Amino acid sequence: MLILGIESSCDETAAAVVEDGRKILSSVIASQVKEHIIYGGVVPEIASRRHVEAISSVVKKAVTDAGCTFDDIDAVAVTYAPGLIGALLVGVNYAKGLSFGTGLPIVPVHHLRSHTAANYITSPELKPPFLCLIVSGGHSHIVEVTDYTEYRVIGKTRDDAAGECMDKAARALGLPYPGGLNLDKASVGGNDKTYKFPHPVVTGSKYDFSFSGLKTAAVNLIHNASQKGEEINIKDFGASYIKAVTDLLVSNTEKAAKDTGHKTIVLAGGVSANSVLRKKMGDMCRKNGMTLYMPELSLCGDNAAMVASQGYFEFISGNIADMSLNAAATANIEGHENE
Ligand code: KG4
Ligand code: ZN
Repeated sequence: MLILGIESSCDETAAAVVEDGRKILSSVIASQVKEHIIYGGVVPEIASRRHVEAISSVVKKAVTDAGCTFDDIDAVAVTYAPGLIGALLVGVNYAKGLSFGTGLPIVPVHHLRSHTAANYITSPELKPPFLCLIVSGGHSHIVEVTDYTEYRVIGKTRDDAAGECMDKAARALGLPYPGGLNLDKASVGGNDKTYKFPHPVVTGSKYDFSFSGLKTAAVNLIHNASQKGEEINIKDFGASYIKAVTDLLVSNTEKAAKDTGHKTIVLAGGVSANSVLRKKMGDMCRKNGMTLYMPELSLCGDNAAMVASQGYFEFISGNIADMSLNAAATANIEGHENE
């Protein structure tokens, strides 16, 4: 079965054709990084406008690259939430137009579910149930995936997401957007014990995160140093900060895995590209006799292959939208209306 995936939740306009949820036939991504770099982050209105300009040619190229026509496609899967509302609306509306013109069914896909599905492509043998750490620019969740379309959140951030935390520190250090990626690169070989950061404790849930204190501590450290005319060693600072963020992510995932008994652990979302996080998750899983799955680097960030993959599983479970499908800035991964 061939699914055409469409993604426009943030700053990548993407389309892909995937066979049976696992095999990429084509994947096209039009990145807007160059448009947003001068602002140091994504400007929502610019993102929406670039999506409008790019989407037709991106979809056309995905279908052509796959060596097929719309007659060969079985359904159109589209990211409907969560994300920038104006950006999401472009993809959703395009999918509706396509459905109207071709008669293809529309499958609504939750963005974080699609990040999880990137692993079904990288590791075709991976099947639920598993425990998944999903870390992106806007979300940090620990989720039990009991089936392809059954998700249960057991831990989440109370404030900022891990990606947001990386981005803000990178920006304060003067590193260009996209911050998390550049912070990762700038920190390779740094001494992670040089700078001290708080280890936030969240009361109420053993698996919830809080990153805002860490982020504020980093920004204050950088500003205080600049006021005193002191140099910050970016390499050591970045390494120390990434250590603090990833320690929290890995220790909560370890606790959740031990308590729930899951032996299959999955990493997903843009931050899953982080080199330290990948290594530490690997070490933690090895120590506990758990098997770790991570997306290949090209599938960590936003792309449409992961949307087509999750779309396949949503489609075969009967999740089909009608023409009243709307985009939503927030939506619970478990399937409720709001987060
Ligand atoms: O999933 P994603 O591409 O978009 C959202 O759904 O938000 O995630 C983007 C986030 C950004 O915060 C970005 O800085 C972060 O992922 N990121 C990284 C790395 N690559 C991307 N963070 C740390 N290290 C990286 N190598
Ligand atoms: Zn994402």
